[in-house]
Amino acid sequence: MFFMFDTLEGYIKPGTIEADLVQKIDFSHLPVHIAVIMDGNGRWARQKNLPRTEGHKAGSKSVKEIVEASARLGIKYLTLFAFSKENWKRPEDEVNTLWELLRKYLIDESQVLEENDLKLKVIGEKKGIPFLVRKELLRVEKLTKDNQRMTVVLALNYGGRQEILEAINRLIKRKDSLKEVNEETFSRYLDTADLPDPDLLIRTSGEMRLSNFLLWQCAYTELWVTPVFWPDFQKKDLIQAILDYQKRERRFGGIIKGEGTNRE
Ligand code: IPE
Ligand code: IPE
Ligand code: MG
Repeated sequence: MFFMFDTLEGYIKPGTIEADLVQKIDFSHLPVHIAVIMDGNGRWARQKNLPRTEGHKAGSKSVKEIVEASARLGIKYLTLFAFSKENWKRPEDEVNTLWELLRKYLIDESQVLEENDLKLKVIGEKKGIPFLVRKELLRVEKLTKDNQRMTVVLALNYGGRQEILEAINRLIKRKDSLKEVNEETFSRYLDTADLPDPDLLIRTSGEMRLSNFLLWQCAYTELWVTPVFWPDFQKKDLIQAILDYQKRERRFGGIIKGEGTNRE
C-alpha cells in the first residue's frame, strides 16, 4: 500500500509544533524552488559513535520526509545535493555506500514518486555515475517524466563550476557560438535549463559555504543555514526555513518600495 501525499490534513497533527508553525505560513508566497545542501551525515554518526555510513543511511530517511513534506506544502521544485564532483575524494567504501543507498532509494521510492505525481530529474555529469545507479535513474526519470505536481531534482556527480564549463564547451561547439550570449541564452545550456533559479537554499549542519553548488543559479537566492545535521532534519525545520524566507525582503539590487524619492 503506497502513501498518497494528499494535503496537510491528517499529516500535521493538531497540537504539535508543526501545526503551530504551519498556521503561520503564507501559502500565497511560498518559495517556488527550494534547494538543499544535505550536509552533516558523518558528524551525526560520529556523535553517536557509529560509522559514517550509518549517517548516510539515516540521511536517506530525511530525504523521504522532506520530499513528502515539500510536496504536501505545495513546493514546485525541490533540488537535493546528494553527491558532489568532489565527493569522489572520500574513501571507496563510503563512496560505494552513497551510490548504493541512492539506488535503494530509487527502487523503494519510484512508485511513491509516480503515484504522487512527482517528477524526477537529475543534474550533474551522468556518465560518471556508476552504471547500475544510472540505469535506475533513467528508469525513474522515464516513469515520472509527465508528472506535474513537483519536480525532485537530484544533483549527482554535480559541480557548479564544471556545469558552467560544460555549458561553455557546448556553446563553442555550436556554429552560432560567435554571436553574443546573454544570461537567458547561457542559462539554456546549463543542466538546470528548464528550472527556475532557487528562491531558497537550505544548508544543514552549520557550514556557511556553497561547496560548488548551483553557482550561477544562486545569484539572488535567499540562504538559510541551520546547525541541525541532515539526518535530524524534519518537516518542522523545513517549515522554519520557509517562514524565515517569508520574512525576507528580496530586493534584487533595487530598493524597498516607497523608499526612493519620486523624481517624476
Ligand atoms: C552529507 O554529509 C552527505 C554527502 C556529502 C554525500 P557528510 O558526509 O558530508 O557529513 P559531514 O559533513 O562529514 O558531517
Ligand atoms: C556538499 O557537502 C556536498 C553534498 C551535500 C552532496 P560536503 O560535505 O561535500 O562539502 P564540504 O566538503 O564540507 O564543503
Ligand atoms: Mg559534509
